[in-house]
Amino acid sequence: MSSGEFQSYFHERAGRFAAFYSSEPVARVLGRGPLFDRLERAVDISVQVEASTVLDVGCGSGPLFAPLAAKGIHVTGIDPADAMVALAREQAAVLSGMVVVDQRGWEQIDEIDAYDVAVALGVFDYVDRPDELLSRMGRAARHVVGSFPSPGLRTGLRKIRYGARGVGVHGYSRSGFEELAADSDLRVVEIIPLGRAGFVVHFSRIDRGRTPTVVETDWSG
Ligand SMILES: C[S@@+](CC[C@H](N)C(=O)[O-])C[C@H]1O[C@@H](n2cnc3c(N)ncnc32)[C@H](O)[C@@H]1O
Repeated sequence: MSSGEFQSYFHERAGRFAAFYSSEPVARVLGRGPLFDRLERAVDISVQVEASTVLDVGCGSGPLFAPLAAKGIHVTGIDPADAMVALAREQAAVLSGMVVVDQRGWEQIDEIDAYDVAVALGVFDYVDRPDELLSRMGRAARHVVGSFPSPGLRTGLRKIRYGARGVGVHGYSRSGFEELAADSDLRVVEIIPLGRAGFVVHFSRIDRGRTPTVVETDWSG
């Protein structure tokens, strides 16, 4: 799948996707609660590492902006899709200078150490080279947070639905995160299960000379 197909898929469905966030109770009834859970986990981690700046990769309509801004954290949102950027800029406009939105894809993340945390929610799902995305995020920020769908029925059905429109969907197993991190010169800090939907994973730069510890927290129930 080309990154153009991923981008145009969400450009065409920006309003529909943004609507998933309009009511958390409704989203939970419809089985979309993990969308909210992953936002909360990303905010928790950003607060825990005392971030003052966050790069939100594939920010979409900007559902992460207000919760981070409410914690005093400045956000740079990036997304290549016209319609998503328009929605994200509307959201940024009401957050009084806390958020800027740049229209670009993850392939154009060239910053080094420009942010405290780089977050990508709902992006690794569609990326053919997750190691490259993770590496760029890990150069831009010391801490990286990503959501990853697990393989299985749910992801299998999404593969069929999105595949019909030329968009590939990738599932990730818990056992693969260490290798993915190592390929990007990162380590796994924490793997947080999102029920059957997948995981939020917190990575950080390897501090040479320290033994890494993996923490696993079950927030699902
Ligand atoms: C599933 S949505 C997730 C949006 C948001 N992060 C959220 O949690 O609601 C995926 C987003 O990735 C964006 N995207 C597509 N191609 C991209 C690329 N090359 N780099 C970064 N984001 C991209 C899409 O436009 C879309 O907004």
